[in-house]
Amino acid sequence: MILVDSELELVPRKLWGDPIIGKSAKMRGKTPETILLDDSYHHGALRRLPDGWRRGRPDIVHIFLNVVQDSILNKCGLLRVYVHTRNNQVIYVHPETRIIKHYMRFVGLMESLFQKKVLPSEEKPLIELYDDMSLKELLDNISPDIVITMHEKGDKVDLLDLFSKNKEKDIVVLIGGFPKGDFLSPVDEYSDYLISLYDEPLNAWVVAAEILVRYEIAHGIGTY
Ligand SMILES: C[S@@+](CC[C@H](N)C(=O)[O-])C[C@H]1O[C@@H](n2cnc3c(N)ncnc32)[C@H](O)[C@@H]1O
Repeated sequence: MILVDSELELVPRKLWGDPIIGKSAKMRGKTPETILLDDSYHHGALRRLPDGWRRGRPDIVHIFLNVVQDSILNKCGLLRVYVHTRNNQVIYVHPETRIIKHYMRFVGLMESLFQKKVLPSEEKPLIELYDDMSLKELLDNISPDIVITMHEKGDKVDLLDLFSKNKEKDIVVLIGGFPKGDFLSPVDEYSDYLISLYDEPLNAWVVAAEILVRYEIAHGIGTY
């Protein structure tokens, strides 16, 4: 599963001198260039950025990762999770990684990841960050049999049926990691299917949960 074009980034250079950012960094005993851009705290400053209306959403990544890492499919060792960001960085979260529940501690963890690139250590990596990796490069590395993009304007396809008919295949599912608008990456070019689950837009973590359950049922996992 890949959370695509996620709005997870350090404060961009353009806002390093912004008073809202400066105050936010100072309160946390940090410098502007080392903190995450976060709409909850930097809303006024975000207006000065291109695409500011959708940027600075680490909370989406936080909830998504909690849902998928704690899922039955992951406990069975059958899930691999990546977070791709708007700046073409890719985070690989090892299956055994449990995500911190407290939001501000998660923010601190991501800030540390942007600095160190691997946590907690090179010897025992649980979360890794790769710079300069586009979605296409990530997909080329994974080399799946089928790529499905979840999209509210996609086709109404029975996912349970699709998973059941492709049990032997490696399937990648792409979900947007942004609050509004559309994918920045050209997902249509890489996708075998563009699928809608419901007539209205849903949160990324809800889509993830719906997919996980359908996949588990198709594979007879987690049902008695
Ligand atoms: C919050 S949505 C993205 C924003 C949405 N386009 C909007 O403007 O409200 C996050 C992601 O969840 C997935 N998604 C949301 N609603 C969906 C639906 N009804 N069917 C399938 N996927 C959906 C898509 O991958 C989407 O990019």
